Amino acid sequence: MVLDILEYPDSRLRKVASPVAAVTADVRKLVADLAETMYSAPGVGLAATQVNVHKRVLVIDVSEARNELRVFINPEIVAAEGEAECEEGCLSVPGYYDKVIRAAKITVRAQNEHAEVFELSTDGMLAVCIQHEMDHLIGKVFVDYLSPLKRARLRARLRKKQRLAG
Ligand code: NI
Repeated sequence: MVLDILEYPDSRLRKVASPVAAVTADVRKLVADLAETMYSAPGVGLAATQVNVHKRVLVIDVSEARNELRVFINPEIVAAEGEAECEEGCLSVPGYYDKVIRAAKITVRAQNEHAEVFELSTDGMLAVCIQHEMDHLIGKVFVDYLSPLKRARLRARLRKKQRLAG
């Protein structure tokens, strides 16, 4: 099922997600809905927070063919090194892209939809995407990293867009 995606500055994007106690059928249904919503948007990642479900679950697919779904339940970053600047966008901030500095290389530990614990060391776009989606789970949006001036401009633009939308 394709779910509605919350849009910045919706205050529900600020909620902190709770850990998943057990990977139940409900959690697997959430994973399937997140994937469907991400692919239909289309986007490369989606956190449960963005569909107003406040559980530590996110999905990512950075592959060109859109056939490498990665599921992260209760993700934790266990190692991080270096710095990389990358242009980011977000399904909750449609049409806006800007550069953010994050760790260049990370190791993340999480569970998949079968409740199996795995560890993944990665860099590049996947590392950026994991960090971006994990921020959503603690109520953070990538525009929080922008300068106050840039954020003020973005909010003005969104107010104008909302007025035009009625
Ligand atoms: Ni996002």
